[in-house]
Amino acid sequence: MKKIVFATNNRHKIEEVRALLKKADKKLAEEYEILSLEDIGCTTDIPETGASFTENAFQKAEYVKVHYNLDCFADDSGLEVRALGMEPGVRSARYADSVGHSHDSEANMDKLLLNMQNVKDRQAQFRTVIVLLKDGKKEEFEGVCRGEITTERSGKDGFGYDPIFRPEGYTVSFAEMTMEEKNGISHRGKAVRKLVDYLTQNV
Ligand code: IMP
Repeated sequence: MKKIVFATNNRHKIEEVRALLKKADKKLAEEYEILSLEDIGCTTDIPETGASFTENAFQKAEYVKVHYNLDCFADDSGLEVRALGMEPGVRSARYADSVGHSHDSEANMDKLLLNMQNVKDRQAQFRTVIVLLKDGKKEEFEGVCRGEITTERSGKDGFGYDPIFRPEGYTVSFAEMTMEEKNGISHRGKAVRKLVDYLTQNV
């Protein structure tokens, strides 16, 4: 069995990768053991100081490779709003920091809606980059989900900016979709499926 670390402690993300791997190829899924940071005893809050999603994902994957010598992948995502010069981008989780709320989705959405007041161009996209360091090689997988920023919140499910993001071709926000529906079209779902395809072809 090949051990691969997913440099996260987000249980939901780990389960999603395990499930997609199984769905892609049940037999091959048994060849891989996907471990979390907790599983390898890593309690460090790995720094994410990069200027891009790729840099941040690489930073996290490299940390595990250097300190634990295990194959590893890491992801980084965020929201890019065209009228705001692709902000908040890598700052998505801490967009409202300046007013003293760290990782506070409500404050982040308030700030974004305020910055978008009277802005006609509502185009935005979520982007995920996954960097995989495996068998001495570095691979990168990207997923993009285009859509627009609504003028007010709708829906209660999901997390982050979900209540104010409406994907292209839909009349509802991410927060009004079931998890399966969202995973089917989301940035993260797309990137994870690319990773899983690669893993099944390169055991
Ligand atoms: P992460 O890299 O997946 O942890 O995402 C960083 C930040 O981007 C999150 O804290 C959210 O603010 C935002 N974000 C990423 N993906 C999503 C999503 O699917 N819905 C809403 N917000 C998201």
